[in-house]
Amino acid sequence: MRDLFDRIYKNKGPLGMWASQAEGYFVFPKLEGPISNRMKFKGKEVITWSINDYLGLSNLSEVREIDFKAAYDYGSAYPMGARMMSGHTDLHEKLENELAQFVEKESAYLLNFGYQGILSTIDALVGKNDVIVYDVDSHACIVDGVRLHIGKRFTYKHNDVLSLEKNLIRASKIIEQTGGGILVISEGVFGMRGEQGCLKEICELKKKFNFRFLVDDAHGFGTLGKTGAGTGFEQGIQNEIDVYFATFAKSMASTGAFIASEKEVIDYLKYNMRSQMFAKSLQTQLVIGALKRLSILKSRPELKNKLWENVLMLQNGLKNNGFNIGNTQSCVTPVYLEGSIPEAMSLVKDLRENFGVFCSIVVYPVIPKGLILLRLIPTATHTKEDINETLDAFSKIRERLKRGVYKLKTKVK
Ligand SMILES: Cc1ncc(COP(=O)(O)O)c(C=O)c1O
Repeated sequence: MRDLFDRIYKNKGPLGMWASQAEGYFVFPKLEGPISNRMKFKGKEVITWSINDYLGLSNLSEVREIDFKAAYDYGSAYPMGARMMSGHTDLHEKLENELAQFVEKESAYLLNFGYQGILSTIDALVGKNDVIVYDVDSHACIVDGVRLHIGKRFTYKHNDVLSLEKNLIRASKIIEQTGGGILVISEGVFGMRGEQGCLKEICELKKKFNFRFLVDDAHGFGTLGKTGAGTGFEQGIQNEIDVYFATFAKSMASTGAFIASEKEVIDYLKYNMRSQMFAKSLQTQLVIGALKRLSILKSRPELKNKLWENVLMLQNGLKNNGFNIGNTQSCVTPVYLEGSIPEAMSLVKDLRENFGVFCSIVVYPVIPKGLILLRLIPTATHTKEDINETLDAFSKIRERLKRGVYKLKTKVK
């Protein structure tokens, strides 16, 4: 008889198989020092382009002070129990009311983590007779939420409204038989390549099809829209989004998330969303921290302005230097280069060791074979020097890549 662990011993999985070469460097790297535009990696200072602290809130002194005081006042346990049982407080309600008001929805509900939260939201919103239609390039949390669905689901081609329409026709035929409804899911901003979801065009389809629309706006919240309230506002269709989701893990520089919708839907989710019903409530120290962050987000537009100043300087600098940055329409800044996986590893090592530039690297199978994606996340804390040094470093590594310098394999320590 086979031991269950045999498979695990033999095959570490698509990412795990690279662990011996990549761990500690390309994956699970340890960035040290306070979260900022410059941190330490393996003892050396690097410009950090891989942290989603868009507005630079993580280390603002008033944020740190509130976090400190809330931790002192409440500890990390309070409140004990799930929201439904013994983990409900005025502060949770206050934050939900403020979030709902900010994103202009009737009601909001807090989630402990974005990932579990959206997964569970999808699970609670649909039943076996319903059909989900979602973008093929969706974040893992959406894919995994859809996996829980026992009814039909279809993907549409990435950001392709025609493909969505075709799938809505298929979905509509099915619900005619089952008597169910349709849920369409898109991201507000696709976090790998930076394109905004074509939310406006999707909402236009509501004139032809009957569906409800869920938007995961992890990267749009805090960065897009006049007030920073997200991609729905940026595209002028926030009122057409039926269920809006954002995490605190990016612009809010914390942990936790929320969904917002009409009151009846939120009331339903409160009683049916398993990730919140059967898990401990978000700690009060995080709730207080989020209240403070939200008030800064609302009252200090200069942070978002500074962020965008940096985004434009970086993206224009890259474009003017002939780099391919794809179709980004957000702060997420991808740089596409041509090369193999070993070349990509040597190149990133060179960037980190010799140019002090730390960014994330994405290769096949996430993107097509032969392409290297370097992903930069500008924040409000980056300086002009950071950007100029990085642009200079990118020009040099591209030249080395073209000369074949990275073909000679470099062993990672
Ligand atoms: C698009 C998107 N949705 C959801 C999540 C999950 O959020 P959290 O980190 O709060 O679990 C992330 C990543 O953080 C994300 O990028």
